[in-house]
Amino acid sequence: MAQQPPHENILVEREGPVATVRLNRPQALNALNSALMTELADALEGLDADDAIRCTVLTGNERAFAAGADIKEMAGASAIDMLQRQRFTQWERIRKLRKPLIAAVSGFCLGGGNELAMCCDMIVASESARFGQPEINIGIIPGAGGTQRLTRALGKARAMEIVLTGRPITAREAYAAGLVTKVVPVEVYLDEALALAREIAAKPPLAVQLGKDAVLKAFDTTIEQGLDYERKNFYLLFASEDMREGMAAFVEKRRPDFKGR
Ligand code: HXC
Repeated sequence: MAQQPPHENILVEREGPVATVRLNRPQALNALNSALMTELADALEGLDADDAIRCTVLTGNERAFAAGADIKEMAGASAIDMLQRQRFTQWERIRKLRKPLIAAVSGFCLGGGNELAMCCDMIVASESARFGQPEINIGIIPGAGGTQRLTRALGKARAMEIVLTGRPITAREAYAAGLVTKVVPVEVYLDEALALAREIAAKPPLAVQLGKDAVLKAFDTTIEQGLDYERKNFYLLFASEDMREGMAAFVEKRRPDFKGR
């Protein structure tokens, strides 16, 4: 894999249409400080705008995906400092990515780390992954979507327990609760996430993007508005060359060649 310079807190690699972004502050269990979040949003936006890339995997290392926002960076901050740092700008940039982003998670996935994993479109977890929101133990609550996304993913009863006790759940519990797509042995979690990314990267890119867009819409509309929204994305794809190619290939019994147009 070719590697891109020059980030301090992340590593970016590309292999064909799939990019891998690795959080790289292992000495701090990949705690998400401002510099890392800025590099991450810059890199992910760059990949999102790159026609050669169709899907990205976001990972950490075996011990930690990320153990949360950097507590040492926040410890002395006032409410006004936190407001002025505008740290959530980077999170909004990540939330607005159009192409699919898959989290490959092993080890600690806590606080902001769990919120970052939940910003991704899917989570592939190693059996050692632990998902939690321990903010309560340091006198705060989740601030990057934890209370909202966990509740939507797991329902009130489980989300309340996780947010109010700070106790993490195991990968298997997260799978049973619908938070993660797949749980696999630790030796293969990254390979499995990459295989999923390659599978999605082989699909027609516009349909992938509009499919992601429509699924995410389900989180903030009524069913009526969501169905209308889905239908408009569906109609729109009939304007794509890839729709003509996909259907022609089916009829002609051959493999389609998708161009992303
Ligand atoms: C800064 C952190 C960190 C964090 C770990 N480290 N988590 N530094 N911020 N969130 C650092 C430790 O200080 C230590 O550095 C090194 O990483 C290794 O961690 P240890 O604690 O020695 O490891 P271990 O004993 O194995 O314990 C692992 C752990 C524990 C259970 C994950 O580190 C922990 O509880 N971390 C904090 C988890 C947390 O509360 N996260 C939520 C943060 S608030 P040194 O220099 O001592 O070796 C949050 C809000 C999000 O995320 C808001 C939106 C952005």
